[in-house]
Amino acid sequence: MTRCLVFIVSFIMCVVANAKGASVACFDVIPRPNKVEMVPDVPFTLSAATTIVCDKELSQEAVFLQQYIQQATGISVKVGNSLAGNSIVLRLGENKNGDESYDLHVSCKDIVITGPTAAGVFYGVQTLRKALPQGKTKKVAVPTVHISDYPRFAYRGAHLDVCRHFFGVDEVKTYIDMLAMHNINRLHWHISEDQGWRIEIKSRPRLTEVGAWRAQTVIGHNSGKYDGVRHGGYFTQEQARDIVAYAAARHITVIPEIDLPGHMQAALAAYPDLGCTGGPYKVWEIWGVSEDVLCAGNPETLTFIKEVLGEIVDIFPSKYIHIGGDECPKVRWKECPKCQARMDELGFKAGGKRPREEQMQGYIMQQAEAFLASKGRKVIGWDEILEGGLGPDVTIHSWRGIEGAVEAARQGHDAILSPVSHMYFDYYQSRDIEHEPDAIGGYTPLEKVYSFNPVPDGLTPEQAKHIIGVQANVWTEYIPTFSQVQYMALPRMAALSEVQWCQQEARDYDSFLVRLPWLSALYRTCGYNYAKHVVK
Ligand code: ACM
Ligand code: ZN
Repeated sequence: MTRCLVFIVSFIMCVVANAKGASVACFDVIPRPNKVEMVPDVPFTLSAATTIVCDKELSQEAVFLQQYIQQATGISVKVGNSLAGNSIVLRLGENKNGDESYDLHVSCKDIVITGPTAAGVFYGVQTLRKALPQGKTKKVAVPTVHISDYPRFAYRGAHLDVCRHFFGVDEVKTYIDMLAMHNINRLHWHISEDQGWRIEIKSRPRLTEVGAWRAQTVIGHNSGKYDGVRHGGYFTQEQARDIVAYAAARHITVIPEIDLPGHMQAALAAYPDLGCTGGPYKVWEIWGVSEDVLCAGNPETLTFIKEVLGEIVDIFPSKYIHIGGDECPKVRWKECPKCQARMDELGFKAGGKRPREEQMQGYIMQQAEAFLASKGRKVIGWDEILEGGLGPDVTIHSWRGIEGAVEAARQGHDAILSPVSHMYFDYYQSRDIEHEPDAIGGYTPLEKVYSFNPVPDGLTPEQAKHIIGVQANVWTEYIPTFSQVQYMALPRMAALSEVQWCQQEARDYDSFLVRLPWLSALYRTCGYNYAKHVVK
């Protein structure tokens, strides 16, 4: 009833404002803020007379807001440091609801966004930006409101695979912009694979000279036919640092993934001695999981891992480094005399709870973890690493389902959820696949993404605290263009953002659908390609 009244009052205010020739802002944004109280009053008028005034630590946020307003409405507001009559004020304030919280108050005189950190203010800026109407105008009537908001999860991730298909600096930056718009704060950047190595490692130049390029790519789903077109590319360390800084300005941490000890065929093409058979190998031209992995019996393998990770930590300041650990076939290790001898040496026995090859993988992962710990970093690994035995401080990334997260939480490990059932955006989003771009398979429509409850039943409240967040993954075997990346990610990323940001009880798919067209108008302003099954 109250909501209804508030709606009617704000509607009347907006009609009044409209009558004066202004476009009207609307706070029905995605993700929906925790608490929105419409205040019946004359709206704030945003126009060229508006000045953004900010604490000096928030000048970056002020410039973003200035750009967002220009982009949406064509209005050029100023950024200044003295309070004028018609201001948007960005300021740091007390911490009531966590580092990423904010309050946004709109009165007829001013708009004030307060957060305990620049990140909190940034999310307030995103909410204001998403409230703006799209289209050139001279004035926007912003309804008077009190918003108090904070995220449900600290880890709000989205992943991008730049290995199966390569996307360059500008495209990765656009992806980061997409994340920022959805209040996502982690980019899980998948930069090593069987089909291409994508990051310059100065001590191992052949990783990019050789490993970044495949001679051709299989057509479709391993059809046996090839396109005959060389494909590849990589990021220099300087470019990667530039991406890290671009993301950091938007309060997004880039978490690189070096997937080991499997998914390494491109590295083996560059350094064949690191494989069990010695090769020759080529950068893989088909999809799937290569049986050629790093040789566990070659002492060079651990040197290689440490050299690579040593350079990775220099480029990426992230607390977490993702070291993969998924889908590592043990076929070669079972036949390789060096691997077998090493397992004997380490005392790994057959016939126990864990096969000795699993123990071997556990050993490698723990060596990588210890090395990263010596550099002050923590590791994330895919849920397979539960099978090899874990070091003490590992975060599990549960992808084959939610069971990995449940097991991790029970063992006292943090966990991130990206179950293939709900969070794989390389899956089809419509059943009408004849009219869809080729996808890897599956079916994950918008509603299914939205329906995901990230805290599995059966965890105690203490265990549930180990669920630090949710992430969606965009693997790119069947996504050759960045426009298609956008199509697969949007608007599913909008549903993801409410899973990550909103309290479980506040989530409501019908309400989400009502709010989605307002966001898709912003997608159009930004020139993003998005899927239109549910929203035009
Ligand atoms: C995965 O999708 N192999 C983590
Ligand atoms: Zn071997």
